Amino acid sequence: MTDIHIALLGFGTVGKGVYETIQTHQTRLKAILGKNVKVAGVLVTDVEKHQLQDDGVLLTSNFEDILNLPKLDIVIEAIIGKEPGFSYLKKSIERGCHIITANKEMFAYHGNELLEYASRFNVACGFEATVAGGIPAIQTIRTLLNVNKIERIEGIVNGTSNYILSKMRDEEVAFQTALQAAQELGYAEADPTNDIEGYDAFYKAMVLSQIAFGEQPEWQRVTRKGISAISHSHIQLFSEWGLRVKHVISLEKGPRGIRCSVKPVLVGPSHPLYSVDGVQNAISIDADIVGNITLQGPGAGKFPTASAIVEDLIQLNASQGSYFKQEENVRFKKDPQVQWVIL
Ligand code: NDP
Ligand code: HSE
Repeated sequence: MTDIHIALLGFGTVGKGVYETIQTHQTRLKAILGKNVKVAGVLVTDVEKHQLQDDGVLLTSNFEDILNLPKLDIVIEAIIGKEPGFSYLKKSIERGCHIITANKEMFAYHGNELLEYASRFNVACGFEATVAGGIPAIQTIRTLLNVNKIERIEGIVNGTSNYILSKMRDEEVAFQTALQAAQELGYAEADPTNDIEGYDAFYKAMVLSQIAFGEQPEWQRVTRKGISAISHSHIQLFSEWGLRVKHVISLEKGPRGIRCSVKPVLVGPSHPLYSVDGVQNAISIDADIVGNITLQGPGAGKFPTASAIVEDLIQLNASQGSYFKQEENVRFKKDPQVQWVIL
């Protein structure tokens, strides 16, 4: 029996969550996959900062070392920004590895290209963790698309913003105090600009749009606002009016294309997002046959995100062999000649 050898690009909140989940769930993974899952290599920027329990794992700051590992089946990327993640994943594909990413910024920019590239090399690409942490949003949308047409998606997809807004309201703390807590909990990135200025939610909205509608709206036509201008005193005032502020993405496909906004909105007690608090995310999907489905769960953090990545890992292995032959599993086609293989 051969093992499954994986590499982790990035060993921060997400990378560590995946590593620990694989270590603590070996028995379950083996029962599901019939193979041991082994972390063969870990890529970081500064090896001095890190220590791995398992001496057999290569810890390096040089991506070529990862590519040169004697056995490598799956590369999991959890680093920050468009590059070098995109280039590293392309090289991993060229080596014949399946890829999984949590990096929504990179995927919003380069997802199409990466999916096409993966397809060309007959490998799979998982990206469940790019949207809404532990919520299986991508999988759910794909399942719905087997028979439904998606009409509209609305939701809270940035855990940091929702955590900050909830904490300012419930604990009457200042914005910076709430943001610092979100960073300490691993929800917000070290540079929190993407979280608090709405870019992170925007990238997630683009990934959702690509999956649900097969295309993204023109980026410059999307309203994007974050929560950085909202203070504790605003929140107090809204509470006196019986309202809560939520950072909401909205996507709708109409005859004139896709309308999308990413911004804080005021909601009353009857609104489905009113009670979605803390790091929770929620995604409400309207589809033509099923009607409305709303998913809610932890939208950021070490283990919710690891759960999404390990789900991808299992899907990817479970489908190997038959996966690429199943036309119905290859849902999104940009060019009829090129099939996108997605998980
Ligand atoms: P962290 O900042 O905690 O960790 C980033 C890791 O990437 C670090 O180990 C860092 O190395 C490494 N890294 C950064 N740049 C490079 C580079 N150029 N080459 C090699 N390694 C690099 O980030 P997170 O784990 O929080 O997030 C990782 C990705 O996952 C991001 O794209 C994020 O948007 C996404 N994500 C995050 C979630 C969360 O809850 N935190 C949830 C879902 C997705 P070093 O340790 O040496 O600094
Ligand atoms: N920083 C992101 C958030 C991580 O707070 O939602 C999850 O994608």
